[in-house]
Amino acid sequence: MELVTTKAQLRKARNAVDSTSKVGLVPTMGGLHDGHLALIDTARSRCSQVIATIFVNPLQFGPNEDFESYPRVLERDSELLKKKGVDLLFAPSVHEMYPNGRDDHTVIALPHLTNVLCGTSRPGHFDGVATVVSKLFHLVQPHVSYFGEKDWQQVTLIRAMVCDLDFPIDIEVVPTFRNNRGLALSSRNSYLDQEQAAKAPLLYSALVRVRDLVLRGENNYSQLEADAIQSLADAGFTPEYISVREGRSLRVANSQSSDRRVFGAARLGETRLIDNLAIDP
Ligand code: PAJ
Repeated sequence: MELVTTKAQLRKARNAVDSTSKVGLVPTMGGLHDGHLALIDTARSRCSQVIATIFVNPLQFGPNEDFESYPRVLERDSELLKKKGVDLLFAPSVHEMYPNGRDDHTVIALPHLTNVLCGTSRPGHFDGVATVVSKLFHLVQPHVSYFGEKDWQQVTLIRAMVCDLDFPIDIEVVPTFRNNRGLALSSRNSYLDQEQAAKAPLLYSALVRVRDLVLRGENNYSQLEADAIQSLADAGFTPEYISVREGRSLRVANSQSSDRRVFGAARLGETRLIDNLAIDP
């Protein structure tokens, strides 16, 4: 595996790839876990060249969020990627990505998908994601890029961006990787203490309960959402939202919707957890 840290090195390595190769990209912020590695395995099985990126993107963190404390373990991560057979790892500095500073940088904005769910409590977050992902797409020029189902709103807006801005890139979604109690793996799980880690799977359980009740024909989604929020609050979470929505449009769902999904976000202490589940097959 080749490790490069500058855009010039990345372009050079990319230009050296055979034009018949299928190039797959897996963008990450590092602190790698088995969820990230599932994306790498999928890319490895479908592409002849796998390029991974590790970059903790300041543009997608709010002023009071965890940009400073976000796990940065490049040596460990690059060992894991090497073992998985990744061909090229791009791990730039903030200055390399934003040499003119972050404040005056051009921003990609997708208002119709970014002002709901996580967008409400994290203003600017998804614009920061769309901006860095579009830069990575231009730099890496992959044929296909892999994203996790866990961050469904993220992959939905990346799909919209690719369509709206005519990126010739396929977007593939990899199922959420969970621990044996259902908790979706996340780099932020490392912030949880023992007691919080034991409670954390209750977010998943709450979503499963909503999904099952919807499938049993319960039509009052607002009541289901309110009950789930109450059960999480009783367990010691600070719930942000539980919401039954249409998977493609992210609009509030009703019983006529055909691609319903239930989304949840809640804090345990300072740690923000998110998850979502498909309701319709
Ligand atoms: P990060 O949180 O590091 O996640 C990188 C990719 O791994 C994302 O596509 C995410 O959805 C996926 N992922 C995380 N946990 C997962 C799990 N338990 N199962 C399956 N996939 C999982 O998401 C980001 O970084 C950033 O926003 C990024 C897209 C890299 C832009 O900065």
